[in-house]
Amino acid sequence: MDTEQTVSTFIDFFHDRGHRHLTGDTLVRPPGDSVLFTTSGMHPLTPYLLGRPHPLGQRLTSRQRCLRTTDLDEIGDGTHLTVFEMLGSWSLGDYEGPQSLRWGHELLTGGFGLDPELLHATVFGGDSQTGEDTGSLRTWQELGVPVEPTVEDNWWSNGPTGPCGPDSEIFLWTGDGPPQGTPTTDPRWVEIWNHVTMRYHRGEDGGLRPLSRPSVDTGMGLDRLTMLLQGKRSVFDTDTFHPWMTALPPLWGLSDESSLRLVVDHLRSALVVIGDGVLPSNTGRGYVLRRLTRRALTTLWRDDPSRTVADLPPELIEHTRRRFRQTAGVQQVHTVLLDEQQRFRRLLERGRQVLRGSRFSGPLRDEDFGYLHDTHGLPRDLVTTLLRERD
Ligand code: SER
Repeated sequence: MDTEQTVSTFIDFFHDRGHRHLTGDTLVRPPGDSVLFTTSGMHPLTPYLLGRPHPLGQRLTSRQRCLRTTDLDEIGDGTHLTVFEMLGSWSLGDYEGPQSLRWGHELLTGGFGLDPELLHATVFGGDSQTGEDTGSLRTWQELGVPVEPTVEDNWWSNGPTGPCGPDSEIFLWTGDGPPQGTPTTDPRWVEIWNHVTMRYHRGEDGGLRPLSRPSVDTGMGLDRLTMLLQGKRSVFDTDTFHPWMTALPPLWGLSDESSLRLVVDHLRSALVVIGDGVLPSNTGRGYVLRRLTRRALTTLWRDDPSRTVADLPPELIEHTRRRFRQTAGVQQVHTVLLDEQQRFRRLLERGRQVLRGSRFSGPLRDEDFGYLHDTHGLPRDLVTTLLRERD
């Protein structure tokens, strides 16, 4: 099942059960939002989870692009991505958690054909403030799925304040032999789908207030689901990344797997961010874009400084644009990337020149970093990279 079939199986399943589909929102959050980028599928739905009626009704699904920078240092392994997509389903004050779990089980085993014997669930075991999630526990027992109660791992919130509640996570066994242990004791249990019962609102004082209309919010990482359905060990081996993983090695000779993955992830993420209208800058969203681009270029130039994103095949930009259903033109997006590359090259040249000065021949002090930043526009991490190059 390729990625698009996976998505349509999900949407059709919930459509048949009365859900309306949202086409998904931009990565850019509106002014006044607490975060710069959309970080999860439920994020754009926060006001509706808190009680506002949604114009499309009480049963919804979406396919939402998300961006997370918390995992930036993990990029290069097989499962972390900076920009990724989430599939989600919602009951805004309509059906309850157990119904959502039953449908989840039906879709995973029927629609996606996963072996029910390879599933495991976790549920909220209760703490001093809230009782055990007995509805979810009983549902899994009735479905014959092994279930493990935990405390911290099964409480979902999107930050210190806002809607929150107990969740139930569904895991798939990815080991070679028969399943062993539980999700908290064996990492071969991989989480695929999270079903949250948004029952509370946590206020500024840290207290929990029950919501007048509890909702169900589910989220599933599309890239990880596709990886598992396609029997791959890494998201980079799925159909989504195929064009990138075949085009880049002959172009730039990146044989080291983790560098290749980093360059693919960061350039592709940068294209999506640019496609949503962000331009590189030294603050906010533009700074995230700048960091992604410069990290990719630093990796590319480590072995060969003559490499250039001018050679990035337009088909990859087009493929990304289509995958994320964006309208910005290929040339327009490419030009932003090329301009940023040129700016970075100039900055590096200036940095090398300045650092040749006698003041910087020994170890640098904080005031030297301050001077390089304020007078020459050279950020500390860039200076550190240049010093490493010099040593
Ligand atoms: N809020 C949950 C998550 O982001 C389910 O959507 O994982």
